[in-house]
Amino acid sequence: MTNEMPLVTSKEMLIKATNEGYGVGAFNANNMELVQAVIETADEMKAPVILQVSQGAIKYAGLEFATMMVKVAAELASIPVVLHLDHGTDFLQNVLCLRAGFTSLMYDGSAEPLQQNIAISRKITEIAHACGIPVECELGKIPKIEDNLTEEQVSNLMANPEAAEKFVEETQCDSLAAAIGSVHGMKEDIQPLDIGRLDEIRRRTNVPIVLHGSSGVLRTRKDAEEKGIRLKDHEGTVEDAIKHGVAKINVATELSLTFIRAMHAQLEKTPGEKDMRKILLPAKDAVKTRVREYIELFGCAGKAEVAGASGLSASEIKYHE
Ligand code: 13P
Repeated sequence: MTNEMPLVTSKEMLIKATNEGYGVGAFNANNMELVQAVIETADEMKAPVILQVSQGAIKYAGLEFATMMVKVAAELASIPVVLHLDHGTDFLQNVLCLRAGFTSLMYDGSAEPLQQNIAISRKITEIAHACGIPVECELGKIPKIEDNLTEEQVSNLMANPEAAEKFVEETQCDSLAAAIGSVHGMKEDIQPLDIGRLDEIRRRTNVPIVLHGSSGVLRTRKDAEEKGIRLKDHEGTVEDAIKHGVAKINVATELSLTFIRAMHAQLEKTPGEKDMRKILLPAKDAVKTRVREYIELFGCAGKAEVAGASGLSASEIKYHE
């Protein structure tokens, strides 16, 4: 039995989050256990959630599998779920995902010259909007840890607030992935954000703001203090970013690391294990704990207001071995 909760688009979900001052977790859907961990936890906490599929995940699982995993997960849950394309770096990928039933797209044209980024972003928003699907676009560049950049280089890649105003106007994007200091793929949460820049971008634009690379960002001021990291006046943490209007918070690396570490620990505990499910289940449970922490941090627990949702939730279903 399912609740037959259809996927929703990210449009209203992110506007509501912006207006009410909380963040929605956007977690990367890389395999079935991760999808289950995210959806079950969000369902238990009555939190709206975004499951996002990157081009890497599409290559790994295939577009059909990736799409169906999230669709089934949404049907089992009684919360609003968005199926989002994460970092679609070309036009065709966005169109294919639109056709596959994604309810939110992203065009990441940050590697292109600005005019090209604007032109392709606009082409995609035009097509997606005709189908009622919102599009996230990226301005500035959110680098990868593997790029080995200095603090100054990361700073130089950040989104320019004036350019952001023009970019949103010209692309008609529905949300903006603005580079404000985070770096993709970090294994430690130590990176501060440029909250002054975020304020200025928010002042000049009227769309929800997306934080990428959140695994590596300092979570709270208390964390910063405990880690001995002194924040400058304009700097802040994930907690601050939410207070200053960030609505969608992308987390991938930390969930992947959590899964891998838990598998390692289980393999060490039971080295002769022949049932792979007994290795994967503790990994899924470890991810659930981490997702719970994030949902608490983002303040979106209890924000899933779905009229008429009833029946079994994913977390209540008992599975046979
Ligand atoms: P992390 O892997 O650094 O958490 O970044 C995730 C992300 O921004 C996906 O778009």
